[in-house]
Amino acid sequence: MSLYDLPERPRRLRRTENIRRLSRETRLSTDNLIHPLFVKAGTNDRQEIGSMPGQYRLTVDQLVEEARELDALGIPGVALFPKIPDDRKTPDAKYATDADGLYPRAIRALKSEVPDLLVITDTALDPYNSDGHDGIVRDGDIDNDATLDVMRKIAVAHAEAGADIVAPSDMMDGRIGAIRDALDDAGHTSTALMSYTAKYASAYYGPFRDALDSAPRRREGVPVDKATYQMDPANSDEALRELRLDLQEGADFVMVKPALPYLDVIRRVKDHSDVPVVAYHVSGEYAMIKAASANGWLDEKAGALEALTAIHRGGADVILTYFAKQVAQWISES
Ligand code: PBG
Repeated sequence: MSLYDLPERPRRLRRTENIRRLSRETRLSTDNLIHPLFVKAGTNDRQEIGSMPGQYRLTVDQLVEEARELDALGIPGVALFPKIPDDRKTPDAKYATDADGLYPRAIRALKSEVPDLLVITDTALDPYNSDGHDGIVRDGDIDNDATLDVMRKIAVAHAEAGADIVAPSDMMDGRIGAIRDALDDAGHTSTALMSYTAKYASAYYGPFRDALDSAPRRREGVPVDKATYQMDPANSDEALRELRLDLQEGADFVMVKPALPYLDVIRRVKDHSDVPVVAYHVSGEYAMIKAASANGWLDEKAGALEALTAIHRGGADVILTYFAKQVAQWISES
């Protein structure tokens, strides 16, 4: 056996689990995780979402129970999304601003029963809009500024119900400034804003749209997709433009969504942001791991932890993920 005169041997730091622990550069922590949850009206059983095994549409009572468990596991917060029945959906998404609607009721229940758990609310119109878009449809297009008027009202209704963080996922121009202004006018200066800064027009939202029945409606006069407001997957400079605007307008957190296919964007946003960077590991990313592991094609735990660790390493300080509860359990067991 010959001995080579190698100036460096990187494998020395990979020799045992303890030396690997010692030289590990990033660590996934429960502190960084937010769990998205779905709430529905009524008192019947929770419904599992077909394309998202292990995720459910919950009644308000079940939501509170789930929140208690997440809180006990040390998860800092939940992002809430509503399943609105069809007969409540209208072209003006009016139900979104109803202070006694399902969503404000869910926020109030969470804040009264599990007060420390952060509630992150969604102000986009799509669950309430009979056209299935995040904005008001007018003459075959999305009316940006009419949408902002509605978003301001929704944000104030959420803050009034107790939301800790308001998170607009709509990608209208100027919404961070408009919502900040509306919240401040109403005295909610402490309610934080988490902007979906670089939200891409992605195929990976499919299971989420199943969960909420919120896909754009195939109908004359309704844009077929969200490409006039969500970003083109081919772009990354544009993410920095959105970042600049969001920071100027007062965003407290900035998000990139989806996560794993956009690690380069996460890194660029992280390098240019002086507020925490969030990544949304979306429904389709979750579904892929679930489906492959259900078929025995990859190991669920290893696959999920690798994906989330990579997103954290890529620059995300916070990750929204449907795996949050499982990861918190895995971390507490290890
Ligand atoms: C819509 C919204 C979407 C998601 C969060 N908010 C989907 C869309 O833009 O159609 C997707 C989340 C996920 O896929 O997990 N405002």
